[in-house]
Amino acid sequence: MKKEQLIQKAVEASTRSYSPYSKFPVGAALVTKDGKVYQGCNIENASFGLTNCAERSCMFNAYSDGVRKQDIVALALYSPKEYMVAPCGACRQVMVELLDENCPIYIAYGNNQCVETTVKELVPYMFSSKEL
Ligand code: THU
Repeated sequence: MKKEQLIQKAVEASTRSYSPYSKFPVGAALVTKDGKVYQGCNIENASFGLTNCAERSCMFNAYSDGVRKQDIVALALYSPKEYMVAPCGACRQVMVELLDENCPIYIAYGNNQCVETTVKELVPYMFSSKEL
């Protein structure tokens, strides 16, 4: 699957965001080696701290279906903002756990703009299972 197609899936996921408090929709999508796509959006709560970000919803969705890090090819993230919306610290740490450190992360925003990075780049000096 092409990068643009995966980003389109993240865009689609953002339209299903449940964000009545922040009104800040975010969508994510990941693709597996066999071409299966898993999506996720941010899901908020009146008890704000219980909010789940789009990236975590997406990774948890895939893992719930039995997908594991070695199966995941890339993850795309999208928010309909004119500026780039980077993953929060909690999501980065979950990426360390659930994605390969070299997994490409496409951060899409605005009108067809995209920053391409990796888990390793997003989390320098990461704390992972390797340390235990
Ligand atoms: N949010 C995400 O879904 N992903 C991010 O990378 C940053 C923040 C959500 C959480 C909350 O619903 C809203 O954006 C505002 O923080």
